Amino acid sequence: MTSSLSTVSYIGATILFILCLGGLSNQETSRRGNLYGMIGMTIAVVATVFGVQVTSAGLPYIIAAMAVGAGIGLYAARVVQMTQMPELVALMHSLVGLAAMLVGYANFIDPAVSVNLTPAEKGIHEIEMYLGVLIGAVTFSGSVIAFGKLSGKIGGKPLTLPARHWLNLAGLLLVIYYGYAFVNAHSVPEAMTPMIVMTVVALLFGVHMVMAIGGADMPVVVSMLNSYSGWAAAATGFMLSNDLLIVTGALVGSSGAILSYIMCAAMNRHFISVIAGGFGTDGGSPAPAAGGAQPAGEVNPILAPETAELLREARNVIIVPGYGMAVAQAQHTVYEITKVLRERGVNVRFGIHPVAGRMPGHMNVLLAEARVPYDIVFEMDELNDDFPTTDVAMVIGANDIVNPAAQDDPTSPIAGMPVLEVWKAKTSIVMKRSMASGYAGVDNPLFYKDNNRMLFGDAKKMLDEVLIVLKS
Ligand code: TAP
Repeated sequence: MTSSLSTVSYIGATILFILCLGGLSNQETSRRGNLYGMIGMTIAVVATVFGVQVTSAGLPYIIAAMAVGAGIGLYAARVVQMTQMPELVALMHSLVGLAAMLVGYANFIDPAVSVNLTPAEKGIHEIEMYLGVLIGAVTFSGSVIAFGKLSGKIGGKPLTLPARHWLNLAGLLLVIYYGYAFVNAHSVPEAMTPMIVMTVVALLFGVHMVMAIGGADMPVVVSMLNSYSGWAAAATGFMLSNDLLIVTGALVGSSGAILSYIMCAAMNRHFISVIAGGFGTDGGSPAPAAGGAQPAGEVNPILAPETAELLREARNVIIVPGYGMAVAQAQHTVYEITKVLRERGVNVRFGIHPVAGRMPGHMNVLLAEARVPYDIVFEMDELNDDFPTTDVAMVIGANDIVNPAAQDDPTSPIAGMPVLEVWKAKTSIVMKRSMASGYAGVDNPLFYKDNNRMLFGDAKKMLDEVLIVLKS
């Protein structure tokens, strides 16, 4: 492939990536957005593999590596459950970080890379390599720890070392000091020590940063690492002089940063303290382990037939899905119930919290899969004021996102987090299997309110029973 054809292909792929991001911002256009992204990525890979930088001797290795990678990716996509997606995403981010590190070291060791560079270009290239390895190492180790925490292999409790902010500062000073030594070194062996020390410090920083974060704050960390992985890819693009990788990395880096900002707002966290790492541990006690909260008060249980009766008599219903709906795979039954109620003239809407479930957009994806019409799916802010005029608020496997303690209890670990105010409805029904707490591990006073009913059981099973009664 000629270099001009490569350039045209790269420009085409860049435009498709931008269209992809634009499409993904709206449920109705997200399929099209995905398609643009897939076409763009295919063009990008083909243009790179058959581009001028790849020799015919290297081609078989690249194709073999791609076949292995594609095989693993295909297998993972088939076996991974929807609820395991965040940990898979964290693992993918770690690979981007690892790639940036390896490319940085390869560039650093290869004498051919800097042979034709002027002294100024050489200096810039050294900074690119140093920063590329730095960002890659933080992304790699941070993402591995995030994977461990999300998959439960590492405990969710935040690790707060004494003087941890000073430790971070010392790490930063070391990285700057060795960066200076790296750029001023006269040979690869001389520059090797600063490079290795910085890599170790960056790896430790990544581990320390994510270990210090409490379980309930992990969503923001995942999107932060998403952003870091974008910047790591952009750094790799600089090292390889690949414009497309720079643009794509910048797109991922900036969109990840915007998503992190939105998530911070949704969880009432400060963006700056997230970037500094170790957030969510100051102010408010760390969340106890899930299931550890003690019930306080009496609850009013309800059975499926009574639930169906309440729904049948209602005029306005808001359904609030959460992580439990994903676990139970109850979305199809939820939509069946919605259809029956709508046929009877009931106004049914869905209220989606920005951090419901375990990944951004988790509930939207499930509802789209069940073909719930987009025009009855609303974001939290769009219908939070409507609960006082709602007859039944049906909470399906959600807990933290409907916890009134976030508003009423300043000592709660989730204090200040915006929540769906389901308790303001005439009746709220919470569907879950037990009195166990949610992800943040805090008790939920909603369960003990007079107008609340608890429908205990697996969400799918309970909803199937409700549907049978509604249809009878
Ligand atoms: P949670 O607060 O985690 O509550 C989910 C509830 O679902 C649990 O209390 C559980 O109670 C119930 N449940 C589990 N399996 C069920 C089943 N088969 N049938 C019925 N109920 C079932 O979920 P949420 O309200 O969606 O809030 C999300 C939480 O996850 C927030 O704390 C958020 O910060 C965090 N988080 C979010 C993300 C993103 S990006 N969305 C990522 C990581 C963490 P039982 O065990 O009693 O059934």
